[in-house]
Amino acid sequence: MKRIAVLTSGGDAPGMNPAIRAVVRKGIYEGLEVVGIYNGYQGLIEGKMEPMTLGFVGDIIQRGGTKLYSARCPEFQTEEGQKKALEQLKKHEIDGLVVIGGDGSYRGSMILTKQGIPCVGVPGTIDNDIPGTDYTLGFDTALNTVVEAIDKIRDTATSHERTFIIEVMGRDAGDIAVWAGLAGGAETILIPEVDESMESIVKRLNSGSERGKKHSIIIVAEGVMSGTEFAEKLKDYTDIDTRVSVLGHIQRGGTPSGRDRVMASLFGAKAVEVLLQNKGGRAIGLRRNEVVDYDMQEAFEGSHVFDLSMYQLSKELSI
Ligand code: F6P
Repeated sequence: MKRIAVLTSGGDAPGMNPAIRAVVRKGIYEGLEVVGIYNGYQGLIEGKMEPMTLGFVGDIIQRGGTKLYSARCPEFQTEEGQKKALEQLKKHEIDGLVVIGGDGSYRGSMILTKQGIPCVGVPGTIDNDIPGTDYTLGFDTALNTVVEAIDKIRDTATSHERTFIIEVMGRDAGDIAVWAGLAGGAETILIPEVDESMESIVKRLNSGSERGKKHSIIIVAEGVMSGTEFAEKLKDYTDIDTRVSVLGHIQRGGTPSGRDRVMASLFGAKAVEVLLQNKGGRAIGLRRNEVVDYDMQEAFEGSHVFDLSMYQLSKELSI
């Protein structure tokens, strides 16, 4: 292994930049040449890449987004696109590839691995939903963004004695909703992993107001429905005054937290170590606080393990 490449793919996440930095610097430290590929798989197909220097990744550890840009790439789903990507890797004499992204991005790198270019995946998504790892880069920063937003919304909810419905991201996973709901003291949390009836939600809201509670926070994970849809549904059951806040893409931006920077450094360096052992089709992850590599197939064929006990606890603490 002489020359490796790195790209970021799919939805960006705070922590991608420190992960790129770790791959580049660890690679150079180990005597490798490291190439940066721009715009994810789309850039790979188009040959948008250049050799990375230590300086290129200077001053990015604290920056959100990704200096290599990211994209979702439908062309790479086709055989033609994959062929072009492979040709580019061969043309640029790349012996191994680190893909920083979600499980969709891993799928693509598995195809390349099978075609002879060993690829290693680094989990980068705010959703914390990649099977096989307890942590994905960006989750902690996104969590803190949501908690800060809840705190601010709570101020105005208290002043006006209102109920706020806050819609958060997470795709099909409820991790952001549950962690943020627990940290922000939300009264109700709706997640895709648990099907709660409207009757039970309303009962809880009513019991709160019966004991004098004048405001409440309801977190709705986007995988359940939109905040606006939920507000409409609620109207059929109660006449409480609600407002909806959709946090949207602010959850994807911002300075990576200390945890995300450390995890990105550990994951990025581990990815290089795995490539140096000539291993491909591996995903980097965190298991019981240990950084590990595991079969990438597991990451897109397995299912994300959701910690139901956290959800249960949030209910117990918001009675
Ligand atoms: O996977 C990260 C994520 O932010 C999800 O939480 C969300 O559903 C999706 O990406 C939004 O994607 P886009 O930025 O393409 O609208």
